[in-house]
Amino acid sequence: MKTVVNILKFYEELGIEYIKKIDIKTKEDVLKELFDKVAVCKKCELSKTRTQPVFGEGNVNARLMFVGEAPGRDEDLKGKPFVGRAGRLLSELLTDIGIKRDDVYIANCLKCRPPNNRDPSSKELESCFTYLKNQIATIQPKVIATLGRYSTYQLTNEKGTLGSLRGKVFVFGDIKVVPLYHPAYLLRNPNAIDIFTSDLKKIKEIASI
Ligand code: URA
Ligand code: SF4
Repeated sequence: MKTVVNILKFYEELGIEYIKKIDIKTKEDVLKELFDKVAVCKKCELSKTRTQPVFGEGNVNARLMFVGEAPGRDEDLKGKPFVGRAGRLLSELLTDIGIKRDDVYIANCLKCRPPNNRDPSSKELESCFTYLKNQIATIQPKVIATLGRYSTYQLTNEKGTLGSLRGKVFVFGDIKVVPLYHPAYLLRNPNAIDIFTSDLKKIKEIASI
């Protein structure tokens, strides 16, 4: 059976030049282009105070994607999402139920740190949303776990409290969205960890991982 490459070679030999111009981009290519855009983005005021943007990281073929709020101090310094205290707790709770951090993809609504970790403004969220939407469209996870109220609102339009939304299943296009408590909330309220873990188990099942 002829491979696609053979067929393309055949056309090339016939002198059909335009075939060469067909540009098949991998997920990595698309994300790299997006990364480069974020690296120089000045669409909102946060570009003036950030050390560096935090694009997101993980498995580009992940069936499960986490979306947090915005980088904090540690993330702003390291350029990686969820690497501070809240991030370490998240990794630990994932490991506890057999999910490897390397198997999922982790991003935030805002790519740049708000000064002193203040709440994101709706203008900033709006400006940055295009990057997150492109990440989601490229990775195409089965399930998105939103961490905290900002990412939950951004992807579900639900304005209720996390207490009432957590563990429920919403949709963003054809992707399921399940809100979770934010790990920073768990640091302040350790008695909510059990609920978080049971929501995470449900997500694991929905994502078939
Ligand atoms: N909190 C978030 O929402 N995102 C991070 O990356 C770190 C802390
Ligand atoms: Fe650009 Fe988003 Fe950073 Fe604002 S937060 S400067 S929109 S990357």
